[in-house]
Amino acid sequence: MDILKIEHLTKMYGKGETAVKALDDVSFSVKKGEFVAIIGPSGSGKSTLLHLLGGVDRPTSGKVLVDNTDIYNLNETQLAIFRRRQIGLIYQFYNLIPVLTVEENITLPLLLDEHQVDKKQFYEIVKILKLENRLNHLPNQLSGGQQQRVSIGRALISNPAIMLADEPTGNLDSKNSSEIIDLLKMFNKTYKQTLLVITHDERIALQADRVIAIEDGRIARDEVIRP
Ligand SMILES: Nc1ncnc2c1ncn2[C@@H]1O[C@H](COP(=O)(O)OP(=O)(O)OP(=O)(O)O)[C@@H](O)[C@H]1O
Ligand SMILES: [Mg+2]
Repeated sequence: MDILKIEHLTKMYGKGETAVKALDDVSFSVKKGEFVAIIGPSGSGKSTLLHLLGGVDRPTSGKVLVDNTDIYNLNETQLAIFRRRQIGLIYQFYNLIPVLTVEENITLPLLLDEHQVDKKQFYEIVKILKLENRLNHLPNQLSGGQQQRVSIGRALISNPAIMLADEPTGNLDSKNSSEIIDLLKMFNKTYKQTLLVITHDERIALQADRVIAIEDGRIARDEVIRP
């Protein structure tokens, strides 16, 4: 089953002489549970693509269907709700809320949705993420690896259809990088969580089921490594 369908996606930034075509007629599909690495040179359009898949920005033209919902047919309010429930976003610099504790940061998407926290699921996630002794800490009291584990928890708590990660290990040393990738892979394999990861790290790309290379806003290669 295709959890994600991208059809003729184009994104222009700016107008006139300074206009940039960041994405140029990109189409592909992703199967539920697939782990896709997205690689490509700086400025090739990787982050633009991920933002469009996550409903963070709107395309100039083309469609994104997540679990058969045409997400850019939604109005702003519906799109915000969709993003919160169906998309887990992980960034290089964690993007945690500094005044909230670890527990509050992880459960924030549920609270914004006025959903009850499933305590059993919450403790299962924090245990896997090895954060059970840090729940009342603030982000600035954590190591980089721990902060990234909090952002993974926050991305996972609402059981999203897709996890999108933009250079999730770009700010970490190699030991913490491997731990973060192992965790993402574990949630991908064990919970069939669909995972798209932008990376400059070839060792990470080689662990994916499939590698999509972006160049100049287009798909230059799309290779299945593990069918
Ligand atoms: N908000 C914006 N306004 C104007 N141009 C933008 C904007 N965001 C990105 N661009 C341009 O779009 C192109 C693609 O940018 P994007 O951030 O998607 O690249 P990237 O592949 O993620 O690069 P990197 O590996 O450096 O993160 C670049 O030429 C960039 O300058
Ligand atoms: Mg980028």
